[in-house]
Amino acid sequence: MKLQFQASLRLLLLASSLTLSLAGCLAAQNSTAPPSSTATPTPPPAATVPAISYSAVHVGGPYIAMTFDDGPSEKLTPELLDLLAKHHIRATFFVIGKNVVEHPGILQRAVREGHEIGNHSWSHPAFGKMSDGRVRAELQKTDDAIRAAIGTGPVIMRPPYGSITARQKKWINAEFGYRTILWDVDPLDWKRPGPSVVTSRIVKETRPGSIILSHDIHAGTIKAMPETFDRLEAKGFKFVTVSELIAMGKPMTPRETGSEGPTPLSSPGVSPVVMPPLTPTPAPTTP
Ligand code: NI
Repeated sequence: MKLQFQASLRLLLLASSLTLSLAGCLAAQNSTAPPSSTATPTPPPAATVPAISYSAVHVGGPYIAMTFDDGPSEKLTPELLDLLAKHHIRATFFVIGKNVVEHPGILQRAVREGHEIGNHSWSHPAFGKMSDGRVRAELQKTDDAIRAAIGTGPVIMRPPYGSITARQKKWINAEFGYRTILWDVDPLDWKRPGPSVVTSRIVKETRPGSIILSHDIHAGTIKAMPETFDRLEAKGFKFVTVSELIAMGKPMTPRETGSEGPTPLSSPGVSPVVMPPLTPTPAPTTP
């Protein structure tokens, strides 16, 4: 009796599964079948953890940040400040601690005129292979020098040569509160290619949200700036400091990560738009 019942049950199940299979085949053949309403559910928005590293910022307008490294330079930085003032452009200076101690007045002027100051180490070593203790000392001495000069400490840091590990970014952020600022536009001005080349490289590569790397210790870079500023302004770009650019940043939605939409910085060779969480690190050059 029991066996018989089980046999019938098996037959019944077999029959019903056959029916279902047949129905499935028919449905599959029917090309006008509407897509299932239970399609891929929309993933929850990415966690909005504040990013600690940027090589560009995803912004909704034509905003960019010019950055000048390795100064202040006694002669060239004041010349650059004159040019920036003339164009009503605010920029960001990643300064070397040793130079800050020598030229605190230049830093004070830069801050007075609306520019931002970032930490670029005391003596310009490559952090990537250094002990935490040595990196800490480089940053702390420079932080102290900047505070002594302008009364406030920086909130951003750029590692010399872009040399830094993901682990270093984390502890530096935890200890100093610094965000690591890299770049997505590099005119290689330190190779002294001539002002017109510096200008054309910057103008060609700059996108909304770009962070542009250059140096206020090379005369050719300063010579390149009037035309660089003119041409970037002619393209509609607006200049802000790095911290202002970050404050304008908006997280990318899944829809925006596709090819459609105003997604800047998609050209080959350019670092991807950086958003939380992010980690792209440009190949170390010699900034
Ligand atoms: Ni540098």
